[in-house]
Amino acid sequence: MSVAEKLCVFVFLLQGVCCRKLNISLPEKIEALSGSCVIIKCTFEIENKYDTNLTESDATGFWLKDGTDTNNHQVFNSRNPKPDHFQGNITGNLHEKNCTTVFYDVSSKHNGKYYFRIESGGVLKYTYRENTCTINVIESPPKPTVKLYVVQDQEEVLEGSSVSLRCSAETLCSSPPPTLTWSSTPRIPLSESSRQQELISDLNFTAAHRHHRVTFTCTITYQILDKNKTAQDNITLHVQYAPQISSSSNCNSGNVSVYVCEVDGNPSPELEWHLSGRPVTNSSDTFISEERLSSTVLRSSITLYESLTHTSLQCVGNNTHGTASQLFQLNLLSQEASWFNIYSFLIGGVVGAVMVILCVTMLIYKQICRTQRGDKTRLIRTDGVGSLDNDGEPFYVNKVMMSSAGAARLGSS
Ligand SMILES: *[C@@H]1O[C@H](CO)[C@@H](O)[C@H](O)[C@H]1NC(C)=O
Ligand SMILES: *[C@@H]1O[C@H](CO)[C@@H](O)[C@H](O)[C@H]1NC(C)=O
Ligand SMILES: *[C@@H]1O[C@H](CO)[C@@H](O)[C@H](O)[C@H]1NC(C)=O
Ligand SMILES: *[C@@H]1O[C@H](CO)[C@@H](O)[C@H](O)[C@H]1NC(C)=O
Ligand SMILES: *[C@@H]1O[C@H](CO)[C@@H](O)[C@H](O)[C@H]1NC(C)=O
Ligand SMILES: *[C@@H]1O[C@H](CO)[C@@H](O)[C@H](O)[C@H]1NC(C)=O
Ligand SMILES: *[C@@H]1O[C@H](CO)[C@@H](O)[C@H](O)[C@H]1NC(C)=O
Ligand SMILES: *[C@@H]1O[C@H](CO)[C@@H](O)[C@H](O)[C@H]1NC(C)=O
Ligand SMILES: *[C@@H]1O[C@H](CO)[C@@H](O)[C@H](O)[C@H]1NC(C)=O
Ligand SMILES: *[C@@H]1O[C@H](CO)[C@@H](O)[C@H](O)[C@H]1NC(C)=O
Repeated sequence: MSVAEKLCVFVFLLQGVCCRKLNISLPEKIEALSGSCVIIKCTFEIENKYDTNLTESDATGFWLKDGTDTNNHQVFNSRNPKPDHFQGNITGNLHEKNCTTVFYDVSSKHNGKYYFRIESGGVLKYTYRENTCTINVIESPPKPTVKLYVVQDQEEVLEGSSVSLRCSAETLCSSPPPTLTWSSTPRIPLSESSRQQELISDLNFTAAHRHHRVTFTCTITYQILDKNKTAQDNITLHVQYAPQISSSSNCNSGNVSVYVCEVDGNPSPELEWHLSGRPVTNSSDTFISEERLSSTVLRSSITLYESLTHTSLQCVGNNTHGTASQLFQLNLLSQEASWFNIYSFLIGGVVGAVMVILCVTMLIYKQICRTQRGDKTRLIRTDGVGSLDNDGEPFYVNKVMMSSAGAARLGSS
C-alpha cells in the first residue's frame, strides 16, 4: 500500500467517524400550508464524549434561519423563547437526540432554510451546517392522488369486475386533520370506506354499465381558521359491457314497414339484421341506415316492402363481450295472417264446443228416447245450449248430425 493509498484510507476513516458522530437527519424540503402548522421530523447524533452532558434539564434546541449566526439568525429557542421568534415546540425529547419540531401559524415569513443547533451542559454547542431543511409555504393544499386498482390490470374495466379507487394524500400538519371526500359526475350513490388516519380513502364497487364515463372526484379539505382549503383529483371510469338492445320500434305505412333498433355496448357494437334467420344486405328492397347516437349507442333502421314474405325479422348487436338480439313480429301480410288465424281459431273453437255439447246432448237424448220415446225436437229446443246461437234460431237436428265431423276436426287440430 502506497503512502497516497494509506492517506486515502485514513481520510476515508476520519470522514466516516466524523460523519457518523455529527450528522443530523432532517427532511430536505417541506411544504407547509399557510395558516396551518408544520412539523420538522428531526434526529441528531453527537460525539460520544458528550453523551453524559446531554441531559433533559440542560438540553436546548435552536433553529437558525437562512444563516448560521447564532444571534442574528435565531428564530427559535426551546428554553428561552423571544418575542420575535416563531411560535412552536420541540416535541421530540432532546436528551434522546430527537429534535422533532412543530411551528404553528405558518405564514410566508416561514419560507427559508433552517439549521438546527444543540447546546447542553455548557460544553456541547453545535450547529449542524451540512444538512438543512427548507420550508416552502404554500397557499393552497397539494392535490390528493386518485388511482384505479382493478382485478385485471386494465385501463378500461369490464362490467362486473371489482373496481377499487384509492385516494391518498400527503398529510400536511393541520388541526383538525384534513379529510377526504368522494363525489361523482353524473351523481351516483357512493359507498366509501376509508382509513382516515393514513389519509387513504378507498371507493370499492362492482363496475356496472351506469359507471361508464362517470368522473369520480376526491377532495381533500383542510379546515384552517374559518376557511376551508380544498384540493381535488379525479378519474373518469370507462366500463366495457356486452350489447343491450336499448330500444326498438316499428311502424308501417302503406306497403312499407320500418323497423328501428338501438343497441348500447362498449366497445361500440355492430348491428346486423336477420330475415328468416339470414343476414340481410343493404339493398333497394331492404334499405338499412345506421346512425351512431353516442360512442356506445348505435341506431339502425331497416325498411321492408310488403312484397317480401318472410317469417321473422331480428336485429342482432354484438361486440367483443357478447351479443344481444330482438325479434320483431312481421307486420304486413303476416299480421293479417295472424289475425286470420286467431279468428278462425276462435270461430272453430266456439263451433266445435257447441258441436260437442250438442253431440253429447244428442247421445243423452238418444238414451232417453230408447227408454222413454219422447219428442226429440222439443227436448233440443228447451236445452240451454241453444242460447249460444248468435242468430237466435233454434238448432236443428241436421246440424247436430254434422257434429261428428266438427268434433273430429277439433280433435285433430
Ligand atoms: C448518521 O449517518 C450514518 C451513516 O451515514 C447513519 O447510519 C445514521 O443513521 C445517521 N444518523 C442520523 C441521526 O441521521
Ligand atoms: C460533560 O461530561 C463529561 C464526561 O461525562 C464530564 O466530565 C463533564 O464534567 C461534563 N461537563 C459538564 C459541564 O457537565
Ligand atoms: C410542547 O410539547 C410538549 C410535549 O409534547 C407539551 O407538553 C407542551 O405543552 C407543548 N408546549 C406548547 C407551547 O405547545
Ligand atoms: C421523535 O419525536 C416525535 C414526537 O415529537 C415522534 O413522533 C418520533 O417518532 C420521534 N422520533 C424518533 C426517532 O424517536
Ligand atoms: C378495497 O379494495 C382494495 C384493493 O382491492 C383493498 O385493498 C381494500 O381493502 C378494499 N377496501 C375495503 C373496505 O373493502
Ligand atoms: C368546511 O368543511 C366542513 C366539512 O368538511 C363543513 O362542515 C363546513 O361547513 C365547511 N366550512 C366552510 C366555511 O365552508
Ligand atoms: C378533473 O381534473 C382535471 C385536471 O385535474 C380538470 O381539468 C377537470 O375539470 C376535472 N374534472 C372534473 C369533472 O372535476
Ligand atoms: C307499394 O309497392 C309497390 C312496389 O312494390 C310500389 O310500386 C307502390 O308505389 C307502393 N305503394 C305505396 C302506396 O307505397
Ligand atoms: C345502404 O345504402 C345506401 C345507399 O344505397 C346508403 O346511403 C346507406 O348508408 C347504406 N347503409 C349502410 C348501413 O351501409
Ligand atoms: C360480430 O359477429 C360477427 C359474426 O358473428 C363477426 O364477424 C364480427 O366480427 C362480430 N363483431 C364484433 C365487434 O365482435
